[in-house]
Parts: sequence; C-alpha cells; structure tokens
Amino acid sequence: MTAQLIDGNALSKQLRAEVAQRAAALRARGIMPGLAVVLVGENQASQVYVRNKVKACEDNGLHSVLEKHPADLSEAALLARVEALNNDPTIHGILVQLPLPAHIDAQKVIEAISPAKDVDGFHVASAGALMTGSAGFWPCTPYGCMKMLESIGYELRGKHAVVIGRSNIVGKPMALMLLQKNATVTICHSATPDLKAMTLQADVIVAAVGKQNVLTADMVKPGAVVIDVGMNRNAQGKLCGDVDFAGVKEVAGYITPVPGGVGPMTITMLLVNTLEAAERS
Ligand code: GUN
Repeated sequence: MTAQLIDGNALSKQLRAEVAQRAAALRARGIMPGLAVVLVGENQASQVYVRNKVKACEDNGLHSVLEKHPADLSEAALLARVEALNNDPTIHGILVQLPLPAHIDAQKVIEAISPAKDVDGFHVASAGALMTGSAGFWPCTPYGCMKMLESIGYELRGKHAVVIGRSNIVGKPMALMLLQKNATVTICHSATPDLKAMTLQADVIVAAVGKQNVLTADMVKPGAVVIDVGMNRNAQGKLCGDVDFAGVKEVAGYITPVPGGVGPMTITMLLVNTLEAAERS
C-alpha cells in the first residue's frame, strides 16, 4: 500500500471531544444544546442512522429527541410537527430523516424547517448561503470531507478537484466547498462521456455516486487524494464504497476507507452544526 489512510474514526474522535467541550461550556451558561431527529416509517437503514445520531448526541453532552412516526403520517401532520419544533426553545437543530414515504413532499418538509435550525443544511436558504459564501449550515457529508482534507493539511488552492456525483446532498455542495477553497472543480455524472479522462487529471477525487467500483486504479493519477463517500453492499453483503479500495490504494497518495472514513464524519459534523446552532441562538 502506498496511500496514507485518512482515518474518519480517529478524526471524529478528536472533533467529538471538541464538541463535548463546547457543549459543556454552553451547559455551564444554562444552555443545553438540543437536536430533534424525526423519523417517519420503518426504513431499516434509516432506523440505524437515527439511532447512531441520537447516541452520538448522548455521548457528547447534547440533548436529543427522537420522534418516531408511523409510515402513514400525513404531510400536514408532519409539517405541524416541524412547526412545533421550530418554536421549541429547547431544540436548536431539526433533522427529518430521508427518505420520507412517497405521499410526503420531502422538499416541502425541508423548506418548513427554520433555516436557523437546519443542521442538515438541506434548506434552500442553507444552499444559497453556501453558494454565496455567507453564514449558514453546510451539509454534513461534504463538510466532513472538507475536514478530512484539512486534517492532512491539504492546500486546495490551485489544485484540480473532480467530484463524481451531482446530488443536492453531496455532489453539488461538495463542489461549492472545494471552489470556496480555490480549487478548480469539475463535476462528473452519469452523462459524462469519458470519466477516466477527467479523473486522471485530478489532484483530488471525491466519489459520491452510490455504486461499487466507480473509481478504479487505472483512473487515478499517482499521488492523488481519494475521498470515498459511497456506502454500498458488495456481492458478499460486505459494506464497501464507490472506490475499488484494494487497487486505488496502490496509486493514490491518500485514501479514505469504507467503513471508517466519511461515514463517522457525517454524524460528527451533525453534532458540530447542532452545537453551532445552539451557540448562535
Ligand atoms: N438520509 C441519508 N442521509 C441523510 C442525512 O444526512 N440527513 C437526513 N436527514 N437524511 C438522510
């Protein structure tokens, strides 16, 4: 292996210790930072995610409320719950776990969250703040990727970053964050004719597609930094990313593993955003 590992568990541990310290400082001033997590329905993966989010709050001195609703909850009832949480002074961050059942307009629900409590960073106001470089909340997964680059002291100015994937949650905000740090950014997606020609030019590659082996060793410039946002199951049922880790680690300069890379960083940045929301309140 030539690449150095960027360890998301170790970095998370360090950042969560800082969160715990800041949370204690807030508590000493009589403010208990609080996160509300809203889950609608029985999606198995979502149940695991929300459990991990609530536990991370408990472990680091944040208050959390988990609201579980049946899958047939009406959109109006969910909007009413969001409104109640907007007005709840003990709650500083609101997270509605996605995906929502098909009869609910997820974007409408997200837009109902007060931008001041939008710790997921999915509200149009948060997206606009990121785009214009003003104060708002950054979506947790790309924010975590930026912290990973920062942790290795990587200077993005003048580098070429290639983002594979254009989702509102990862690809697009990731590209804006890299741009804000003065990288030259290319966004690739399913209609990009020659992905390899793009990635071979990249100093930094962020793979955020949700498909195994999107990035293989022949597509990576020696020494490049590779960040793997993917969370997939391989044929053996084992968790894997979008990157062919075994091959790419022989070419890359740095690489993030799956599991133990971006995954824990997403929850860590949710804690950071919640704390930030409480500090601003
Ligand atoms: N579903 C999968 N990832 C996320 C996330 O980061 N936030 C929310 N709200 N839902 C998700």
